[in-house]
Amino acid sequence: MTATVSGPLVGQGFDRLDGRAKVTGAAHYTAEIPLPGVAHAVIVGARIGSGAVRSIDTRRAMAAGAVAVFTHENLPRVAAVPPVFPSGFGGPAPGQTFFPMQDTAIHYFGQPIAVVVADTFEAAQQAAELVDAHYDERPALVRLDDGRDRQYQPDTVFCGLVPAVQSRGDVAAAAAGAAHTVDATYHFAANHHNPIECSATAAVWDGDTVTVYDATQGVSATQATIAAYLGISPSNVRVIAHYVGGGFGAKAMMWPHVTLAPMIARELGRPVKLVLTREQMFYGTGLREEQEQRITLVCDNEGMFTGLRHHKLSVTSPFDEWAELSLGVAGQAYGIPNWEGRYRLVRGNTMTPTFMRGPGETSGMVAMECAIDELADAIEIDPVELRLRNHAALDPESGHPWSSDGYAECLHLAAERFGWSASDRRARMRRDGDWLIGWGVATAGYPVFLPGQPQRAHARLLADGSLIVQAGTQDFGTGVATTMAQVAGDALGVPWARVRVDIGDTDYPNIAAAVGSMGAGMISAAVHTACIELLAQLIALAVADAESVLHGLPAHAIEGGGGMLRLKSDPSVAEAYSDLLSRNHLTDVETIGTWHPPAQDLPYGRMSFGAQFAEVAVDADLGLVRVRRMVGAFAPGRVLNAKLARSQVLGGMNWGLSQALMEASLPDTRDGRWANSSLLEYLLPVNADAPEVDISFVEVADPVVNPLGVKGLGELGMVGAAAAIVNAVRHATGRTIREIPLRIEHLLTEPMTP
Ligand code: MOS
Repeated sequence: MTATVSGPLVGQGFDRLDGRAKVTGAAHYTAEIPLPGVAHAVIVGARIGSGAVRSIDTRRAMAAGAVAVFTHENLPRVAAVPPVFPSGFGGPAPGQTFFPMQDTAIHYFGQPIAVVVADTFEAAQQAAELVDAHYDERPALVRLDDGRDRQYQPDTVFCGLVPAVQSRGDVAAAAAGAAHTVDATYHFAANHHNPIECSATAAVWDGDTVTVYDATQGVSATQATIAAYLGISPSNVRVIAHYVGGGFGAKAMMWPHVTLAPMIARELGRPVKLVLTREQMFYGTGLREEQEQRITLVCDNEGMFTGLRHHKLSVTSPFDEWAELSLGVAGQAYGIPNWEGRYRLVRGNTMTPTFMRGPGETSGMVAMECAIDELADAIEIDPVELRLRNHAALDPESGHPWSSDGYAECLHLAAERFGWSASDRRARMRRDGDWLIGWGVATAGYPVFLPGQPQRAHARLLADGSLIVQAGTQDFGTGVATTMAQVAGDALGVPWARVRVDIGDTDYPNIAAAVGSMGAGMISAAVHTACIELLAQLIALAVADAESVLHGLPAHAIEGGGGMLRLKSDPSVAEAYSDLLSRNHLTDVETIGTWHPPAQDLPYGRMSFGAQFAEVAVDADLGLVRVRRMVGAFAPGRVLNAKLARSQVLGGMNWGLSQALMEASLPDTRDGRWANSSLLEYLLPVNADAPEVDISFVEVADPVVNPLGVKGLGELGMVGAAAAIVNAVRHATGRTIREIPLRIEHLLTEPMTP
């Protein structure tokens, strides 16, 4: 949709500005950027999961044509390990505090032990095969079960940002007085990110300044991270990311390869490009950790939840205490007065886990939403009704009202579009030939995070009436550049076709890393602020200009629209921006707008809500599960672009299907490797697995979170999707399976045909 445009741009379903470049191959991703004289670096990963390098012989690699081989013996030491997000979600973001190749220690399989550099990628790959490493090996711990007896209680998780134990009310008293109790433990396999574009970094030095091309979700976070590791000023690091082929959290943090490329380029005095292979993505960019969650949910005779104990046990790395935040939405979406959340950890030989879409909530809401259905069956209340009854009218954590809600509207709308009826919740009642049919529902929710720092954007109106908007953010597939043009066009009254957006470069005003669904909210706020300020400048210019038709009029009586300034009460009193600038001999008018996010402790609960429904068919003899259709309704505040929003949610819901039925990274306990580290063996849904998906939005006004009321959407579409499917399988089969992914083998352990 680009041909004819009328009305506000925000909300319309514009095609991606970069869509044509992407589908025609004109878009250059990091690995494809031509760099004269570039050398190709390939990482050699450890073949053990724990221990130390005893010796590395690089002679065969050098003889095969390597230009250089770096190991712990000759790689420079990092200057410092930067803290993670020292200012809220701003600043550097090292994925883990351990940086490899600084000594002989091996903490996880695939950990870089050498980097081989050659003139071509192929030569580097071949030489990398010829690096001879010998190890002192210790047993690697990679399974939760194997470390259960070594679990411990950390003080904090998630970069030290979240206390590991939290509570409100008195859960023990609530449990003692409960009419009904569900006590269930859900197990989740580890998962790895698989964006289409594997991570890649290229670096070119010019004197003491380096330009880094990186597949990143945060150009300025990459800049700050590299600068800290190399011990140089961030001013001497420029980061460029014109196109990024998906992130989903894998590119939210800056993993070792991001620093290795500029470090090695500096050593060699030549540009260096470092691309991870698909297999190396399983050892290079974090993961969603293996975990189990125990839910104790209690209610009174009316089905009102009176208490929730939510305990999580998960695998973290040897050096960091990371657990994805699984307890937040589950403990906040319902008005539960008594709550206790607890994270416990097992140190395993893996990378530090990291953000992965719906980081934490996608697993936490499987446990919670499946437990709710178990309770609904026990007390014979319709699962939709039970959820509605228990929805939190106020944020139960703070007691404050929600900045905006929309949950009930989403649940009603999605239930209607799905055709949900409360008539029969007994299992195994519906059949279609050999297939047992089941229906499931779940709540979606995701917190509205706010950046800890001001966010800035540059707006520049040229004398020809065209507008350029620039920000140091990046588009990793969300379509944020397109929404920036929509927001800017509306704020300044410039037509769609006259707006240009430049992003993906730290030379533009910095924006925090796009994590936790903050991107659309903070970027639209910065762009909106800049364009509103620019409009004020233009109005002041016209009012002061004796030759303007708007001369001497009060500023508040004037608005921007259609590329003009005009009188609100009489739009025929107008003058084009281009005329105003030309007459004043100005080539442009520009400003950098700064959006100051609201305080973190503002008196509102902040959550985006939604509702998910799924219909599954389960082969009664073979245990095969097919998702036939999914219906979702979501309330993300303002929808900036209807097409892109749908696209985000479509991906999220399908990923929920993948989470529920397919994705599992399987550790090999002999050496700590991931046994299925390829797209052949790491199961993902293909088109034949993807069901019909019906998506609606309930737009709720939110005057609190940012100027346009954008609450964020990236994560929300995935949360609850898997739970709806697992609940549907339970409805179809009568089998309560608490293993994620839920696979054929779990259904076949006992015959399903009575
Ligand atoms: Mo999002 S998982 O924080 O990229």
